Amino acid sequence: MTEHRMVINGRGVTFTQGQTILEAAEANGISIPTLCHLKGTTPTGACRICVVEVERARTLLASCATPAAPGMVVQTESPKVVHARRTILELLLSSGNHNCAISGASKGNWTEFQQHVQAGDGADELCPVWGDCRLQELAYQYQVNADRYIHTETEYPMEMKNPLIVRDFSRCIRCGRCVQACNEVQVNRAISFGYRGDASKIVAAGDRALIDSDCVFCGECVQACPVGALVEKKSRYTWRPWKAEKIRTTCPYCGVGCQQW
Ligand code: FES
Repeated sequence: MTEHRMVINGRGVTFTQGQTILEAAEANGISIPTLCHLKGTTPTGACRICVVEVERARTLLASCATPAAPGMVVQTESPKVVHARRTILELLLSSGNHNCAISGASKGNWTEFQQHVQAGDGADELCPVWGDCRLQELAYQYQVNADRYIHTETEYPMEMKNPLIVRDFSRCIRCGRCVQACNEVQVNRAISFGYRGDASKIVAAGDRALIDSDCVFCGECVQACPVGALVEKKSRYTWRPWKAEKIRTTCPYCGVGCQQW
């Protein structure tokens, strides 16, 4: 395969035909933050968190959806890029229930958080994936909080109507990773985007509960969700990601017997 050359952050790197800027950067050990990008699926460019500055381009470009080109000169953390990422994060934090920035749990008071949960005292208001959330991680990395924009929240109620997956629409950032996981990785095509603007949500079978749709509860969407919008019911508020040991196992859900970590 022919190798081409480009410059990322002042460093000459090589890439192969067909790679995106993100792939070229990763292949050369340069990290670019992503949210909606799901490896191996069609890039949607939905979240824009991966934007980079490309010499002579009029706007910032989504690195996950822009092909690398020979001679390209890219900056991945320029002031312009960082400003854009901070704004995107602030907007995401203000649209929805992302209370990691304001709850006691965010201050690292895990004991207090567990006491709330055990007492059933507003447990649903606290995020079950605190400490294992890509949005929270990026907010921390770029030092932003949810205070800058007017806070909006969806009125779609939480869906608990099945034994395996909790859907919390208030925490969904509409990145579409779950849709890609369902449609492109598992090829189940059980979920898709529905409605528009503020009303947009991920829907199943028109707009029904997962249990009333073609969902086979393979759990691929839960794995793909970067926030707390899709959570496995039995692990909700019962374990912490950094305490878990990953093992290879057979998925117990639909009976196909897929191997997963
Ligand atoms: Fe590239 Fe979302 S990760 S647009």
